[in-house]
Amino acid sequence: MLFFRNCGLDPEAHAALGARWGELEYHPFLANRNDQPVTVRFEKNHDTAGFENVWHSDVSWRAVPSLGSLLRAVEVPAAGGDTLWADMAAAYDCLPDDVKQRIDGLEAVHDWIDTFGALMSDEERTSTRQNFPASIHPVVRTHPETGRKMLYVNGIFTTELVGLPADEGDRLLEYLCRQADYPEYQCRWTWQAGDLAIWDNRATRHYATSDYHPQRRVMERITVIGDRPF
Ligand code: SIN
Repeated sequence: MLFFRNCGLDPEAHAALGARWGELEYHPFLANRNDQPVTVRFEKNHDTAGFENVWHSDVSWRAVPSLGSLLRAVEVPAAGGDTLWADMAAAYDCLPDDVKQRIDGLEAVHDWIDTFGALMSDEERTSTRQNFPASIHPVVRTHPETGRKMLYVNGIFTTELVGLPADEGDRLLEYLCRQADYPEYQCRWTWQAGDLAIWDNRATRHYATSDYHPQRRVMERITVIGDRPF
């Protein structure tokens, strides 16, 4: 995690900073800036409450998910709207040995169908599926730079553990997703307008607190394409 107070980037500088890490992601399902389609815009107000209040890692449903994201606060509520991140390498390290053995080599399905797909008509979902199949990733991925092992499942995009009976798989997946709930692995940022947070999506999950409705909160996110998890 890197946090910068009031760094005052404009949308172009925000994207240019992201591009220093690699190719930028175009998000097919979220609202993007009209003048800069690689920028996802989260605009919440009286009519639209926040729904990013589930632990997740951005676009884990892609075969090649993201390396990291850069989130810029454009307008913040008078109170509330913090974002939290959880360190999934620390979460892995602290798992009991028998759980580590159980999940060694296990894979999980990551899919957009139950989240973004739930807002689509049947026809739209079927046609979109052709371009965006579900992906299978290791439950424990290895950080390509540090070599650390990290839990790589999350509560909104990971839909099942491959090869386990549904009951057993669902229970284990829920347990693994809940590891992000421990404050010991978390940090939390209270935003001021102009702040920027940069994070590693391979190593963390994040959660946007949705406690400020009906106040207005506008955030813009640039996401950098990463590598295939291993
Ligand atoms: C996100 O899920 O990337 C948005 C986080 C936020 O709005 O704080």
